[in-house]
Order: sequence, then structure tokens, then C-alpha cells
Amino acid sequence: MGRQEASFRRSAYERLLMKQEPYSVRELSVRTLSDFETLAIKQGGCWCIFYQRANPLRRGTTSEEWKRRNRLDKRALVRSGRSHAILVYDGRTPVGWCQYGGHEELPRIDARRTYRKVALPVAGQKLWRITCFFVDPKHRGRGVAKFALRAALDSIGNKGGGVVEAYPVASPKMAAVPEWRWFGTPGMFRKEGFRTVAPLGTSGVLMRKTIPPRRAKKP
Ligand SMILES: CC(C)(COP(=O)(O)OP(=O)(O)OC[C@H]1O[C@@H](n2cnc3c(N)ncnc32)[C@H](O)[C@@H]1OP(=O)(O)O)[C@@H](O)C(=O)NCCC(=O)NCCS
Repeated sequence: MGRQEASFRRSAYERLLMKQEPYSVRELSVRTLSDFETLAIKQGGCWCIFYQRANPLRRGTTSEEWKRRNRLDKRALVRSGRSHAILVYDGRTPVGWCQYGGHEELPRIDARRTYRKVALPVAGQKLWRITCFFVDPKHRGRGVAKFALRAALDSIGNKGGGVVEAYPVASPKMAAVPEWRWFGTPGMFRKEGFRTVAPLGTSGVLMRKTIPPRRAKKP
């Protein structure tokens, strides 16, 4: 059992006594899929799959069909180990997530012309992406997204590291609307050591950080 998993299993009372972080995290997996789904229902119908599809569903797909397909396709991706995210818990309640993954898992970013114009090659390093945050409306504004981001970066380090890209919303008008902040804010990423590479159109910005592989602890 990993450290994060152990932290999840401690009761809220124990964590309070130990003055630990208020939240704990787990990776999205077959074992946590139902927690993700509990939260995803609160989000709507995207199931955080938009950036995982190289192409959108065909035109004319009804809203109900779109939701059903998103849910089924997301399950399939999780079960085949092709969908990564950090789930944040308050006690045992899932309250937020941060989606991350290798660039091949999140190909829709490449469809943005503004991205292709400014993205530099990463020369022999693995390219990672951080594409979506979602926090239960009842838990917003308390650092859940930042907590998820830190855990996602840790996870990337554990998986060998590389160049991590983020696409936060830079327009103050857009950042004022929670539903348009799904990419996160530049400030969140700056605090984690990301630097700005270039603007992305008029509303976003491309940021990058290189994460070295984490050395395994000696037993
Ligand atoms: C964007 C979102 C994830 C932020 O989660 P959160 O836990 O409230 O965020 P945090 O408290 O960790 O703060 C993260 C950043 O958001 C900013 N933020 C939080 N609440 C805000 C508010 N009401 N207005 C403006 N910015 C706000 C914080 O200032 C911080 O940015 P900074 O470091 O640059 O100051 C949340 O608002 C959300 O879930 N929105 C809906 C996104 C969505 O629809 N996602 C679906 C994708 S499939």
C-alpha cells in the first residue's frame, strides 16, 4: 500500500490529531472508478474525455447519446489503463480531480492550431499534459485543485518524469467563470514552478515544467 493510499485509509479524526493535510488522494483506476463517476455526474456529461478523443463525436449526436458514449468510453479507457487522473478526497468523499497523462493519451490538444503554432519539440523527453480540473461546487475555493495538481506532478515524477505542459486560462473575464477555468489558472502552475512558453490564442497560455524522474527510496 502506497503512502497516498495509507493516508486515504486514516479516519478524519486521526488526520485531525496528526495535523495532516486536510485532503488525501488516489489515482483514477478500476478501483476508484465509482468515486470518479460519483463526482463526474455532478460535472455534467463530459466525463473528462474531451481531450482524450482525437476527433469529436459525429455531428448530430444528441445530448443524451453524447453523455452515454462519454461514460462508456471513459470506463473503457480506465479499464485499459489509458486514463490518468488524481482524485482528491475529503475523508472518504471524492471532491475533485486533476486529469493528466502522456501526450498520446490526450491527443485533442494537438488539434488546436494556436497550440501547433507555438509548441516546441521536447527533444528525447516524454511529454505530459495536464488538461482538466473539476472540484465539487461545495468544496471550491479551498485549494482542492492546487492539492490535486501537486499530487499529479508527484505521480508524473514517479512515472519517470519529463516535460509537463499546462494550458491555463489567462483571460480574467474567462477565469471569473468557474466552468471556464477547467484548465486551471496560470498562478496555480507558477507556484509549482511552471514557466510561460507562449500565449495560446487570446484566452490561454502554454506553460511548461520539466520534472526529473523520482529516485526510488531505499528500502
Ligand atoms: C477551476 C476549479 C477546478 C478550481 O477549483 P478550486 O479547488 O476551487 O481551486 P483552488 O482553491 O485550488 O484554487 C485554484 C485557482 O483557482 C482560483 N479560484 C478559485 N476560486 C475562484 C473564484 N471564485 N474566482 C476566481 N478564481 C478562483 C484560485 O485563485 C486559484 O488561482 P491562483 O493560484 O492563480 O490564485 C473549480 O472552480 C471547478 O471545478 N470549476 C469547474 C471546471 C469544470 O467544469 N471542469 C470540468 C472539466 S471536464
